[in-house]
Amino acid sequence: MQISELELDIEKSDFSFDPAFRADVLNGLSQTQKAIPARWFYDLEGSRLFEAITRLAEYYPTRVERGLLDRHAGQVADRLGLAPTIVEFGSGSSIKTRILLDAMPGATYVPVEICGEFLAEACAGLSADFPHVEILPVEANFMNPVSLPSPRGSGPMLGFFPGSTIGNLQPRAAVDLLRSMRATLGEGSSLLIGIDRLKDRQRLLRAYDDADGITARFNLNLLQRLNRELDGTVPIGAFQHRARWNDDWSRVEMHLEATRPVEFEIAGETFALDHGETIHTENCHKYTPAQMRTLLQAGGWCEECHWVDGDGDFSLILASSVPDLAGP
Ligand code: TRP
Repeated sequence: MQISELELDIEKSDFSFDPAFRADVLNGLSQTQKAIPARWFYDLEGSRLFEAITRLAEYYPTRVERGLLDRHAGQVADRLGLAPTIVEFGSGSSIKTRILLDAMPGATYVPVEICGEFLAEACAGLSADFPHVEILPVEANFMNPVSLPSPRGSGPMLGFFPGSTIGNLQPRAAVDLLRSMRATLGEGSSLLIGIDRLKDRQRLLRAYDDADGITARFNLNLLQRLNRELDGTVPIGAFQHRARWNDDWSRVEMHLEATRPVEFEIAGETFALDHGETIHTENCHKYTPAQMRTLLQAGGWCEECHWVDGDGDFSLILASSVPDLAGP
């Protein structure tokens, strides 16, 4: 009797684990350099903390990119023509989308977002403010090919990928994603993408290690998720947030560093870290303008317009899909 109750309990808790989360974490923590894929940052709490990051004084990308969108959305609209379908990859709170929708009143909007709760919240707000815009939400991980909902306008397709999220991928994966976006959006489509520029190392590091510790909370929230959702026993107080510059890869890396030797369990498996050992949680690659063009070309996109702020901090690029049979 007792045994069957125990079995029932185990089955129940196993069943409640998200199998993909569990597999990514168990696999990632078994590597020599421990790592957890960054997409697991974005539960509701993580998504809210990320929104707070975007309002930080040190975190210039959001502010600068918004300024670029304010200034150039009209030009994007003119180049595209009437009634585009905007497909946003990782739409979050859809705040930047509002600038595009103001400039493109006849648009259809397809937000693709992994966090269902966040997606629903954002769509409710948008449809209240843009009652004439058709919104077709897709709850999905945009790293997999997305099948677009079918009843949508006949106008041009515009992919929207702001926030330098492309920089969170290693160049190889960034090219794969650009190619898959091109496949999703089709021949003749356009892509509006924001990419952070290589700049002074101290400014870059401050953007990922703010004085108020919001980025630290965002990073550490991942450990809370392990405890909450995967039956973890991680001593969160024994970890600290670390932002490091990796010059070989031209990127800021985010780590969770053990401040003493630790041992814990996750989903029934035991893991240990030495003092100073880290779990790698994110990469933020920084590109020069020439590297951006090559990255886009490798992914099947040709730069049409390249806008930059006065300080040269951030790029907003409008690109067009390269035809399959282009040149020799
Ligand atoms: N795309 C954002 C960036 O690379 C994501 C981001 C900002 C981020 N701050 C972060 C990711 C802190 C992890 C931790 O700028």
